[in-house]
Amino acid sequence: MKKRVHEDTSKEPQGEAAPLGTLRGTFPAGSAMTSRRNILAWGAASLAAPFILRANRAGAAERPALPIPSLEAGRVEGGVRVFDLEVRHGTHGFFPGIRTRTIGINADYLGPMLQMRRGETVRFNVTNRIGENMTLHWHGFELPAWCDGGPHQVIAPNDTWRPEFEVLQRAGSYWAHGHQMHKTAEHVWAGMATLIRVEEDGEPDLPSEYGVDDLPVALQERRFTASGQMPYNPSMPDVMMGMAGDVPLVNGAISPRAEVPAGLVRLRIWNASNASVYRLAFDDGRPFAMVASDGGLLERPVSMNSLVLASAERAEIVVDLSDGAPVRLIADTIPIAVGMMGGMGRGMGRGMMGGMMGGMMGEPLGESARRFDFLELVPQGRGRRGRLPERLADLPPATREAARSIRPFNLEMRMGPAMMMGRGFLINGRSMDPRVIDERVPAATAEIWRITNTSPMMHPFHVHDTQFRILSRGGRPPAAHERGFKDTVLVMPGEPVELLVRFPDYRDPELPYMYHCHILEHEDAGMMGQFVTV
Ligand code: C2O
Ligand code: CU
Ligand code: CU
Repeated sequence: MKKRVHEDTSKEPQGEAAPLGTLRGTFPAGSAMTSRRNILAWGAASLAAPFILRANRAGAAERPALPIPSLEAGRVEGGVRVFDLEVRHGTHGFFPGIRTRTIGINADYLGPMLQMRRGETVRFNVTNRIGENMTLHWHGFELPAWCDGGPHQVIAPNDTWRPEFEVLQRAGSYWAHGHQMHKTAEHVWAGMATLIRVEEDGEPDLPSEYGVDDLPVALQERRFTASGQMPYNPSMPDVMMGMAGDVPLVNGAISPRAEVPAGLVRLRIWNASNASVYRLAFDDGRPFAMVASDGGLLERPVSMNSLVLASAERAEIVVDLSDGAPVRLIADTIPIAVGMMGGMGRGMGRGMMGGMMGGMMGEPLGESARRFDFLELVPQGRGRRGRLPERLADLPPATREAARSIRPFNLEMRMGPAMMMGRGFLINGRSMDPRVIDERVPAATAEIWRITNTSPMMHPFHVHDTQFRILSRGGRPPAAHERGFKDTVLVMPGEPVELLVRFPDYRDPELPYMYHCHILEHEDAGMMGQFVTV
């Protein structure tokens, strides 16, 4: 990773400073979510961070610099943009003087920012140097099934896989990550993920100088052993609740700081954690404008003070730092087992799951806060001033009329003996079986997918090969920041979500795509199904 620090403080001011709070958009951020900050006691009890980490946190002045993944535009060969990606073992210096064993893509941990343009054809030469089967999935991309990188595109050790497809995606922030059957969580935990930035002609005037006022911010947390390693060995509760950590990482650095121009700054935020749902905010409560969701720019900026981002979701935000004050991006984790906390699960007995799981685990369920101090932004000099464009993108209307049929999905977490073996996470009553095609879906035809969550947990539902629109959440139109293109939607217990889903005109009667919960432990435990487009 290459570090780039802002040096040019001499930019021309661009008009009058306008508080972001004046931007259009009235969504009361996070209002649908509880603000309770709870964790399960056993989650905290099982954490063991090295002493060096504690020292590091005590001396907050010693924040490392935010690593900026190198911008990798590949090379153009015969009109095709070609990327060579090597997935390999590495060791990464999370803590001074300690090498932690990791996996990276052309890097020790995580990988470069892959840059491509809408409309061009890209090819990836993905070489597996990790000594075991793996895949690499292009999360958020509409593409032919053989290029998807899901569980069926296994790359054997020392083999190279060469998918080639047209970039249909709008300008925005996407990513790629491992997707090996039953190994997704382990591979991603180790670092098998990389960021992708798609550009296109005619983008609105937003901060876009990479590494200067347009920063990639990949959020994760990890737990480390006393010797500074981060092995993946989830307990049964980890499988149920998703693997979480107590050490906040941004682009692989622990609570880093970034010097930025004192003006408008754009953060491209990835929730690249295995499982955590973050409520993001600035520590001084300042407003920011969300400008893009998973599939690209929103119709117009949405002003908010906090933002809930589930695993795999992305958001681009613009924050005004022209007052020159340092500010921290913080996150409270939201417990996914809402019913267990008696907080927000509608129609669920308070403490019902708590009692059941407490009994199963032999541990009481506690409630305490987990807050991550992810990133400090330190404004320097003079940056870009002015208003954001009122209008960012022309999005096609998302109406029910377009849909041909309604396809129901039921995300259910079934408690039972299978749970003890890390299974029992179901979609439509079934656990993922690679030999079974669960759905046949028409290509190039819109459908409404109705997702109902009868489990006592939230599940971020993700669909391959599409950018969908949220038609309704709990019977109501979605909040402003959820009206753009999405590939992952957080589905709350007892709050059905209707999606307008449309796949591109790629058909393959045999090779399937996946839909699944993006809590990677749930996915690996079977909360995944397969569909072909016909
Ligand atoms: Cu990001 Cu099927 O995954
Ligand atoms: Cu995906
Ligand atoms: Cu889940």
